[in-house]
Amino acid sequence: MSPFRLSRTLPGDAMEAALRADVLEGLTGTPKTLPPKWFYDARGSELFERITELPEYYPTRAEREILADRAGEIAAAAGARTLVELGSGSSEKTRYLLDALTGLRAYVPVDVSESALTLAGRALAAERPELRVHALIADFTAGLTLPDTPGPRLLVFLGGTIGNLLPAERAAFLSSVRALLSPGDALLLGTDLVKDEEVLVRAYDDAAGVTAAFNKNVLTVINRELGADFDPAAFDHVALWDARREWIEMRLRSRTAQTVKVPALGLAVDFAAGEELRTEVSAKFREAGVRGELSAAGLEPARWWTDGAGRFALSLSVAR
Ligand code: SAH
Ligand code: AVI
Repeated sequence: MSPFRLSRTLPGDAMEAALRADVLEGLTGTPKTLPPKWFYDARGSELFERITELPEYYPTRAEREILADRAGEIAAAAGARTLVELGSGSSEKTRYLLDALTGLRAYVPVDVSESALTLAGRALAAERPELRVHALIADFTAGLTLPDTPGPRLLVFLGGTIGNLLPAERAAFLSSVRALLSPGDALLLGTDLVKDEEVLVRAYDDAAGVTAAFNKNVLTVINRELGADFDPAAFDHVALWDARREWIEMRLRSRTAQTVKVPALGLAVDFAAGEELRTEVSAKFREAGVRGELSAAGLEPARWWTDGAGRFALSLSVAR
């Protein structure tokens, strides 16, 4: 078995301080919002994996199709000795790249979900004795420092998770990614594409209610970590398409007028009947927009691939 190392850039108490700050800001603002990174405790990560298997949730299958077809081309273009993956989750689709990158020495999965990192990292280290797996518990929006591993590096950000950042956060994030790369390194970015509203809304409001459970899980996280008394059954899951901003929004709508206590913050939060709390945006992209955002961050988009049905895209950019 190859070495599996798990390290954290943020100690547990800094994570809790970040959660407190986000909940205080988000629940006292108008409208109420919460950042999506807090979905992903062990149960949230499991629910996300179930989402990826739903008939309505096409992005994972579409991205897997591109990786299955193009991993060889991506590997040849990148020639990487280190693969860094942000928001790696189960690392399931990453296996196409791990197989294709023949000179690979190190894999660095980065995620806020310790459970996802441990499960995926241990399995990969056991299966691939030649690979150094150095997992990093970290917030990829909060100034990453990568371990010292051999270049060139291929940094991958799959799943369309970039769409969960707001436009200004995306710009800052892409610049920080550019700063992590050296000349000759590359970025492989997965972006979900604009499509029919009905297809999009169904992907975020599935018949089996798995996405609703995922959405409400953030309330359970706040109850556990901050002693809050949210009743998840007192909120309805809402998914809607914002045609102007070209993003899906997930919200939790209060079924009644209610007050929720958050003792760790000394806070009592009033919800009016029907009031909505925004829990996630999931932006959908067009090729010109993705190229523009990459170029603005100092990255040079070199390749663009979509699945056969044109639902999802992978782009490969190089750092000069
Ligand atoms: N890449 C995988 C998982 C996508 S789900 C796939 O394509 O299927 C999004 C992943 O990003 C989750 O594992 C979540 O824990 C992680 N994540 C979300 N926000 C994060 C942040 N700010 N920093 C680090 N990881 C984050
Ligand atoms: C991780 N991310 C890309 C998912 C998405 O599609 O925006 C999270 C998700 N939210 C609801 N379903 C899946």
